[in-house]
Order: sequence, then structure tokens, then C-alpha cells
Amino acid sequence: MSAALTAPQGAAHARILGVGGYRPSRVVTNAEICERIDSSDEWIRERSGIESRRWAAPDETVIDMSLAAAGKAIAQAGLQPEQVSAIIVATVTHPLQTPSAAAAVAHRLGATDAAAFDVSAACAGFCYGVAMANDMVRGGSAEHVVVIGCEKLSDFTDSYDRTTAFIFGDGAGAVVIGPSDEPGISATVWGSDGSQYDAITQRASWIDVRDHNVEFPTLTMQGQKVFRWAVWQMAPVAKRALEVAGITADDLDAFIPHQANMRIVDAMVKTLKLPEHVPVARDIRETGNTSAASIPLAMERMLEAGEVKSGGLALLIGFGAGLVYAAQVVRLP
Ligand code: UT7
Repeated sequence: MSAALTAPQGAAHARILGVGGYRPSRVVTNAEICERIDSSDEWIRERSGIESRRWAAPDETVIDMSLAAAGKAIAQAGLQPEQVSAIIVATVTHPLQTPSAAAAVAHRLGATDAAAFDVSAACAGFCYGVAMANDMVRGGSAEHVVVIGCEKLSDFTDSYDRTTAFIFGDGAGAVVIGPSDEPGISATVWGSDGSQYDAITQRASWIDVRDHNVEFPTLTMQGQKVFRWAVWQMAPVAKRALEVAGITADDLDAFIPHQANMRIVDAMVKTLKLPEHVPVARDIRETGNTSAASIPLAMERMLEAGEVKSGGLALLIGFGAGLVYAAQVVRLP
């Protein structure tokens, strides 16, 4: 027989050790959005719950915003950048096909030799990253993993398209996931429905841009289709996440769903029969829909506002283009 391999040795459990967010300074009101589309502040508030969103500066990149959020999360975890063994950036708006945003973030952070890669799972990207980081820490391939959700959606949104112009915003949120004595991240319930591949998509491929002289490809969304899917299909996913975590809605200290639309959040709260005492993330009001960044940004805000305490249990659920989804229960840092 040939030589035996040494099996990887991971930690018994993993948990979130720190969280950090970055919100660009420019506040964009509904009134400003309505300068380019036939809409109104009232309609946008009523149909989406959004009052304002942030836009990054023209020269501010996904890498810059990721770096700011990751730096805060690493500091809160009490770590030095060189102790980070892997960096995952969940994003769909890093404008280079290759290399990844994560490799630049690792270098600029000083996370020397960290494994680094991007994940394309749209608004579910952060929860996909948490699932992978949890398995990496427990599987022994990394000790401390930084998971970043970051989007500069203003670069990929047509500001004259009334079906999308009001909904998206820019920002970044990050967590550090590392070893723990107790379970701090449940099994993830995740999946995809590629039959709805065209429900949210870039209008054209880069090949179309090259060969067919099409305009810069912004995002297009079949809003009602995605809305119905989110309302009817995502609550059962959230319920399954509670089941596999071995807890009930009553045990939760916070519900932090992807901030897609306030009406989707409200519908989920109702379907889940979430007890009144569980605080719900409603960061969309001032942040808009920031795709992969929305959950960690909302998490940071709830902790900072004292709506939930460190150590509390939060149900996370992300869902979006693909269509793809992921949900898990985490102990908050
Ligand atoms: O984050 C990734 C996942 N994304 C989501 O989960 C987003 C899911 N979808 C949504 O949040 C909603 O579909 C939107 C907020 C995008 C749109 O809200 P809606 O209630 O689904 O609007 P709708 O497309 O059904 O349009 C309702 C009406 C239509 O008029 P009629 O046909 O009833 O006369 C539209 O023409 O509102 C009209 N409309 C607008 N009116 C003012 C559509 N866009 C606008 C607008 N301003 N911007």
C-alpha cells in the first residue's frame, strides 16, 4: 500500500468573531432618483420601503469598500490581518472578470498569503460565504476566514430604468469566522432554481458588447416574478434553517433577512409567525438593496443600535439572481 495521507484537522466548531460595515458617504434621496425616472417618493416608499440609499464615489471601488468593512471586522475580532487565512468576497459588481477582488483586498489588508477568491451568488452571496467559511474552519483548510459582501450596484444600474433605478444601493459588510468551543453557525439550507435564470440578469454578456456593439450591460429584473418567489419560497427555507439548527422562532434574538424590499421582509415575518419580541432588520429604509452587503450591514447596525446583544441568535437568509438562496442561524459576535 502507498503512504497514508494526513487528514486535515479543523476546529470543533466555528463562529462569527467580528463584524464591520462600510457605507459610502453620499446619501441619495428618492427625490434625486425621481429626477431621471417617472416615479415619486411616495411610490418608492410604499412599494419598497426605501427612503434613501448610499452611492459610492466614482473612484471608490468594490475593493476599497471591502477593505474598509474587513478592517473593522478584523479589529473587532481582536486579530491582526496576518492571522487571516482566507478571504471570500461575495460580489456581482467587481468590474473585472479576473483577477478577483479578494486577492487585492488580501494584499492591501496585509493578509499575507491568505487564500482569496470571489463568490458569485448575488444577494445570497454573503450567506454562501458564511456556509463555506464555517466548513473551512471546521474542515481544517483555514483558521480565520473573512467573509465580505460588497456591491457597487450604482455602476450596474440604469438610472433611467424605473423598474430598478430606485432599488439598489452601494456598500460593504464583513465578518470574521474562526474557531469556537461551542457551535456558532448552524448547517446552511441552500439551493438554486436555474429555471428562473433570467429573472435578474445582466442585460448582455461581455461577448455581446464586443461583437454586437451593445450598450454597457446594466442589470434587469422581473420584479414581480422575483417578489412572488421570495414571498412564497423563501419563508419555507427560513423555517428549514430553524429546524436544522434545532431551535424555534421563539429562541431567536434577531431576524436578519436580505434587504430586498420591506414588503418581502414583512411577508416573511408573517409567514414565519415570528414572535413580537424578535427584532427584525429593516436597514433597507436608509440603505436600499445592497445585494451581498445587505445582511452584514444590517447585522452591524442592529448590534450598534443595541437592538440585539452580542451572543444572540440570528436567523439569516439571502436570496437573489440565479435564482439562488441560503439560510443559516448564527450566534452574533
Ligand atoms: O435583491 C434581489 C432580489 N430582488 C428582489 O427581491 C426584488 C423583488 N421585487 C420587488 O421588490 C418589486 O417587484 C419592486 C419593488 C421592484 C416593484 O414593485 P411592484 O409592486 O412589484 O411593482 P410592479 O412591477 O408590479 O408595478 C406596479 C405598478 C405598475 O403600474 P400599473 O401596471 O399597475 O399601472 C408599474 O408600471 O407600478 C408601476 N411602476 C412604477 N410606478 C412608479 C413600476 N415601477 C415604478 C416606479 N415608479 N419606479
